[in-house]
Parts: sequence; structure tokens; C-alpha cells
Amino acid sequence: KTAVVLFGGQSSEHIVSCMSVVNVINHINREKYDVVLIGITEEGRWIKTDSVEDIKKGTWKDGTVSAVISPDATMNGVILMDGDKTEIVRADVIFPVLHGLFGEDGTVQGLLELAGIPYVGCGVLASAISMDKLYTKIVADDLGITQAAYVPVMRHDLKDIEAVVGRVEEKFSYPVFVKPSNAGSSKGVSRACDQQELKEALIEAANHDRKILVEEMIVGREIECAVFGGGNAPVEASGVGEILAAAEFYDFDAKYNNSDSRTVVDPVLPEGATQRVREAARAIFQAVDGYGLARVDFFVKKDGSVVFNEINTMPGFTAISMYPMLWEAAGMNKDQLVDRLLEHAMD
Ligand code: DAL
Ligand code: MG
Repeated sequence: KTAVVLFGGQSSEHIVSCMSVVNVINHINREKYDVVLIGITEEGRWIKTDSVEDIKKGTWKDGTVSAVISPDATMNGVILMDGDKTEIVRADVIFPVLHGLFGEDGTVQGLLELAGIPYVGCGVLASAISMDKLYTKIVADDLGITQAAYVPVMRHDLKDIEAVVGRVEEKFSYPVFVKPSNAGSSKGVSRACDQQELKEALIEAANHDRKILVEEMIVGREIECAVFGGGNAPVEASGVGEILAAAEFYDFDAKYNNSDSRTVVDPVLPEGATQRVREAARAIFQAVDGYGLARVDFFVKKDGSVVFNEINTMPGFTAISMYPMLWEAAGMNKDQLVDRLLEHAMD
């Protein structure tokens, strides 16, 4: 069989995807699958590459073979174009190892639906809902899951930024978190401790998205849970893991550049909290119509209560990422995990 792996992408998490994909590729069973690697540059050019080394070095962008996935459902594959030479490679399954916009948000999933090629992970709806923090709030509220209170802000509201500040201050005291609705890896997210910082944070978030959330600060431990399954397979939740961020919050730098940030699998939590996290993770995955995989992130407060933070439908798969680590702790190593994800996509 042939597995096509997509990586990179046009989002602010491009570089994270390039880290994740190396880990995914190294765990695909080469006896079962021929692997075709297609990178998407920040500009949105699709390029075939042959080597993991080129991905690590970034030199895959110099590749000369263009790749196209046609929405034509009778083609069942990828068109490779090298100068005048054109070749169609049949794809049995596609693994879109893409984080953020134009990859994790339902757009690529829509293309793959049209193309009629099975793919790993959530479909259009689950991807789109989960990418959009504002919309995820609505779904979680409907489920009755506790989450941070928030004030929605549109980019055009910032024309009267004083009024926005007024709305926020009426509801919350500082500090507050300001987040673009559609973004990942904490890109564009800030913590604001006063009015001036709030204004700056709003403007920064507006650079990433036209929809913004201002959230109350939740004091609690950052706890994550991995989910696998859906469709014909039962929805399984892993054990839980804790993020110990080496910064005020787990921002992009703390996530990927600060080796003092640590993750702990199976941390000691107040009585019943682990079970509540696992149940909520499954419930949210099902509520967004999840399929394949997701990592669901929570806060656990001192009293053991659980506050939902967000769901990521293509969670990081880097060497330090929680998703594969949690399954490893549950007895499924990365080879088995990648194999199950590919099989599940074709189910
Ligand atoms: N958005 C990053 C990749 C994550 O959730 O792991
Ligand atoms: Mg995220």
C-alpha cells in the first residue's frame, strides 16, 4: 500500500509540523507501506521530497517535483510533476501531519473527501469546530462541560478598543488571557495584567484572526488526555499527562524551545480528577464528531474540579509531544500507534 504523508503547511505552526512529521515517518511500517512525502511551503507550494534529512534541514523546499492532489474522485492519487514528466501515484491513505490553519481546520480534509482518499484523523466538521476556539466553547457549553468564562471580540470591534476593554473589565479582573480564535501552539496568545497589556494583546491576537477570545485566568494544573478511535471503533482515552511549563504560561517558546519545560505522565491528582478528565475528553471528542485522534487539554484545580481548555485534532507528534507519550505509557508504542491510525483511517 502507499501512504502519502503531508507536512509543513501555510499555518503559523509550519515548523511544528516539520518536527512532528519526522517522528511519524520514522514509525511507519515500511514493510506495509510505500511512503510518499509531500511538504507544503509557507507560501502554499506542494513539493515532493524523498528524504527525512531534507525535512530536518529544511532543504526539501528546494525540491523540483510538484505534487497535486486533485479533487477528481476517480484519480485516487497524487499527481507528481517534474518538468514535462507527469506521474500519478495511487494513494491508499493520507496522513496529514499538519497543524493549524489550512491543515487542521477542515480545509485539507475537505479536499481529501472530494478526492475520495482515506485520511488519518478528524473529518471536516470536527476539524473546523476544534480549530475555532470560539465555536468549541459553544459546543462545550452545550455539553455542560466547565470551561473558562470568555468575552468574544471581533477584529472590527477594536475600532473602539476602549469599549472592548470596558466589556472585559466588567466581567473579569486581571490577569486575563487573550487568544485568536483560530491558531495553535499558543501563537498570538498573551496574558494581560493591565489595561495597556490588554490593548496590546488584543491587537496582537487580531493579527492572527478576525475572531478573538478574552478568557478569565484559570488557576490550575495543565492536564492533557489523548483520545483515539471513533467511527466503527470505540473511543479510547489514554491516561493523563501534566505540562510543567518553564514560563508564565506554555507559550510557543516554552513549548518548543525551552528545555526546562517538562511533561509528566500519570501525575498525582486530587481524587477522581483523572477519571473526570478522561470522561470529559471522550465526551468532547464525540461532541465535535471526532474521528481518529485528538488531544484534549484541561486545567485541574486544587479542589479536583476539571476545566476544559481546548481540543487539538492533529496534536503535536514531536519528540517531546504528549500525544504519543500518553499512548506509550498506556502500552501502545509509536510504531503501533502510527499503524493503528493508518488502519483506522482506512476502516
Ligand atoms: N497545536 C499543537 C501542535 C498541539 O496542540 O500539540
Ligand atoms: Mg492547540
